[in-house]
Amino acid sequence: MADLRVNVAGVEFKNPVIPASGAFGYGREYEAFYPLSKLGGLSIKGTTLEPRQGNPGPRVAETPSGMLNSVGLQNGGLEKFLSYELPNLVTKDTRIIANIAGATIEDCAELAGRLNGTAVDMIELNISCPNVKHGGAAFGTSCESASAITAAVRKASDKPLMVKLSPNVTSIADIAKAVEAEGADAVSLINTLLGMRIDIKTGRPILKNNVGGLSGPAVFPVAVRMVWQVANAVKIPVMGMGGISTWEDAVEMMMAGASAIQIGAALFSNPYAPVEIIDGLNKYCDDNNIKCISDIVGTVKPW
Ligand SMILES: Cc1cc2nc3c(=O)[nH]c(=O)nc-3n(C[C@H](O)[C@H](O)[C@H](O)COP(=O)(O)O)c2cc1C
Repeated sequence: MADLRVNVAGVEFKNPVIPASGAFGYGREYEAFYPLSKLGGLSIKGTTLEPRQGNPGPRVAETPSGMLNSVGLQNGGLEKFLSYELPNLVTKDTRIIANIAGATIEDCAELAGRLNGTAVDMIELNISCPNVKHGGAAFGTSCESASAITAAVRKASDKPLMVKLSPNVTSIADIAKAVEAEGADAVSLINTLLGMRIDIKTGRPILKNNVGGLSGPAVFPVAVRMVWQVANAVKIPVMGMGGISTWEDAVEMMMAGASAIQIGAALFSNPYAPVEIIDGLNKYCDDNNIKCISDIVGTVKPW
């Protein structure tokens, strides 16, 4: 058995496989399939200060090799997470990553501050949300707004801070450098790519929100490219995600520079994907005489 432990920003994960925010809820539904203790950790559904209903449906659509979603951060709010989900999660012997989101910098800082002193292991700050005070462009789409939100959350939080980057930018490496400079301990990427589908019979977009986020195998090469670029641009660790559905994908993402990986859309077609990937990584290490999975991180040999 290889050593699958990885360390991301001082947090040790028993293995590098982590269900991604929004694809795993708070783990309750998946416990029917396997104990959550098998996982390196889990990233909870994006949590906001107040409960949110999310966007009206239809809010998911199939695409070739992927899916579009416009769920719109439906969640029970911070209080419900603290009083109902977190007490359950702490009994599961896995790392808890609190994915947080807000429409203003102040909301995100307050969320982060209220997680101080809780059993949450790490914060994942989703900066793909619209900045309502500044015209609605997502925080993650400019170095200035990404820096500002990271600085405020860094100041408010005493937890390891991972900033989750948006791929809907010209240079994701520049955004990564900007958040690193403001004290991010790690970055995770990619969030979904903006997409759109139209029903040609009605002429209407399939999603009620008109546009949504693309994820699943279709985005994998984009995610690998971005993880590679970011890993080469910053010194802090990178968590890679976007289209991973097999252990081979996980190895590829880690070779690109990811210290750990997250699984999103693949869970909807195969709830066992995370445990199959953990088993696959173990066998891959044994077959290739790799003692520690962390030894493969960033080992791609570019031409
Ligand atoms: C239905 C759905 C809901 C999502 N909700 C969130 C969310 O609340 N917060 C977040 O940071 N990312 C969210 N994501 C993005 C995923 O965590 C992940 O970054 C993205 O889907 C790429 O990974 P994948 O291709 O493995 O799905 C969501 C994705 C999907 C498919």
